Amino acid sequence: MKTHDIRVAPSLLAADFARMQEEIERVETAGADLLHLDIMDGHFVPNLSYGIPIVEAVRRCTTMHLDTHLMLAEPGPYLEPFRAAGADSLTVHLEVAHDPRALLEEIGRLGCRRGLAVNPNTPVDGMLPWLEHIDLALVMSVEPGFGGQSFMPEVLQKVRALRQAIDAAGLPVDIEIDGGVSPANAARCRDAGARWLVAGSAVFKAEDPAAAIRQIRGR
Ligand code: DX5
Ligand code: ZN
Repeated sequence: MKTHDIRVAPSLLAADFARMQEEIERVETAGADLLHLDIMDGHFVPNLSYGIPIVEAVRRCTTMHLDTHLMLAEPGPYLEPFRAAGADSLTVHLEVAHDPRALLEEIGRLGCRRGLAVNPNTPVDGMLPWLEHIDLALVMSVEPGFGGQSFMPEVLQKVRALRQAIDAAGLPVDIEIDGGVSPANAARCRDAGARWLVAGSAVFKAEDPAAAIRQIRGR
C-alpha cells in the first residue's frame, strides 16, 4: 500500500478544552490530516463527551476533515444536526444497528462519508455485508468510552480480515483504527491494513506532536 494513503486523525478528546482553538491549530500545524471527534451519549458508552454546538465551534476553527465518531445508542435523529454542524464523515456503530442500511443511506444522502464501527468484541463478519455501502470501516482497539486506554493488539486480525475482504472486492473503503494508537504500535496497524489512524493521547499529550504524527503515519 502507498504510504500517502495513510492519514493521522488526532482525537480532540485528549485536547485541553479550555483552549480548543489553540489545540486544534497546534495539531493542524503539526501535520494532522483529519480531526477525530468522539461523541458519547452515556448509554452506548458509560461516558459523556460533547455534542452538536462543540462540533459547530470546531468547524469554525479549522478546514480539516471532521471525522465524527458517533458512540450513540440512537444515532438516527442526530445525523442531520451533526452534518449541519460541519461533520464530514459520520460513523455509527454496528452494535446499535444490526441493519444499518437506513442509517448509512441517510449519511450518504447528507453528503458525508459513511462510517461503520465495531467494538473490540464484535466479530468483523457482521461488517462484511455492508462494505459496499460504506466508505470507512472503523475497528475499535479499546472499549469505547474513554481516551488514554491501552491498545488491544488482538483486534489487528480483524483489520487484516477486513483488508482482505475490501481488496478482494476492489472496494474503495478505508479502514480506521481507534484507541490506544501510538508510535509504538502504529506500524503494526498500518501493516495490518489500517489507513486512518486515530490517536488522542499520543498526539495531544506528546512533547513533540509533529514527531508523533510522523511516527504514526510512518513518514
Ligand atoms: C474512545 C474513542 C477514541 C479515543 C482515542 O472511545 O473512540 O477515539 O478518544 O484516544 P486515545 O488515542 O487516547 O486512546
Ligand atoms: Zn473515536
